Amino acid sequence: MHKGKGMKFVGDSRISAERKSQIPKDYSEYPGRTEAFWPNFLLKEWLVGAVFLVGFLTLTLIHPSPLEGMADPTNASYIPLPDWYFLFLYELLKYQFASGDYILLGLLVLPGLAFGALLLAPFLDNGPGRRPKQRPVAVGMMILALVSVIFLTWQSVHVVDWEARGEANKPVPESEVAVDTEHEGYAAYEANCMTCHGAELEGGSAAPTLVGIEYTAEEIQTIAKEGTGNMPAGLFTGSDEELEQLADFIISVNESAAE
Ligand code: HEC
Repeated sequence: MHKGKGMKFVGDSRISAERKSQIPKDYSEYPGRTEAFWPNFLLKEWLVGAVFLVGFLTLTLIHPSPLEGMADPTNASYIPLPDWYFLFLYELLKYQFASGDYILLGLLVLPGLAFGALLLAPFLDNGPGRRPKQRPVAVGMMILALVSVIFLTWQSVHVVDWEARGEANKPVPESEVAVDTEHEGYAAYEANCMTCHGAELEGGSAAPTLVGIEYTAEEIQTIAKEGTGNMPAGLFTGSDEELEQLADFIISVNESAAE
């Protein structure tokens, strides 16, 4: 009999007699190499995760992602494309068997099967082995998924005319005009002229732009009252003072554009 076996040498009430040591359990009875989940495995995972997190953070700081211009609902030449990591799904929808009458196949069934398989992976592949050779189903599915994603992404990237797209998607240049909505003539402009000549005097289908006109304040006042060409007379309703302020306002916007 070993000395001390079966005995409990505890003289301190704070120490449990049954206290286990921090040494991880012996896993040698399990097949393959393995280790304690806590803390060994989790610590390694966390370390690798932290390295990638810091790496990605540094990358995003050094190389901010290029953004396109503001969304412009009037730009009909815009060519929309999903971000690169969704291009494969986008490309899938171009195949005849996954579009048109079969769009549900491309939208729901095929992606559903793929993600469903991912969900079911732990049940489909529940063997004890960890080597790739011992897991033909899981490894096969993984390779199939990787190959299809890479192939579809490549296909998608390869048909896009990137130069034409860059040209069509150029951000709209910011307005050069400074419209001072605090200007005393702004209210009169807003009330009498804006519906046709636009919030930034840019014009529209109903009227030409008022940016770059070369009228004097008096001429603008006359046009506001009496109209010109296709612009009817009597559009301005207000006092003479307001009319002066209105003409001033239009000239001030023109001056801001000339700068
Ligand atoms: C119903 C729409 C409409 C409204 C409201 C309107 N305009 Fe016009 N405006 C026009 C049209 C159309 C023209 C072009 C006339 C033409 O040359 O045939 C025009 C032309 C002008 C021009 C001359 C532009 C140029 O390049 O020759 C000025 C200046 C002008 N408008 C000022 C005003 C002012 C100031 C107001 C507000 C009091 C106003 N307009 C309100 C329709 C409008």
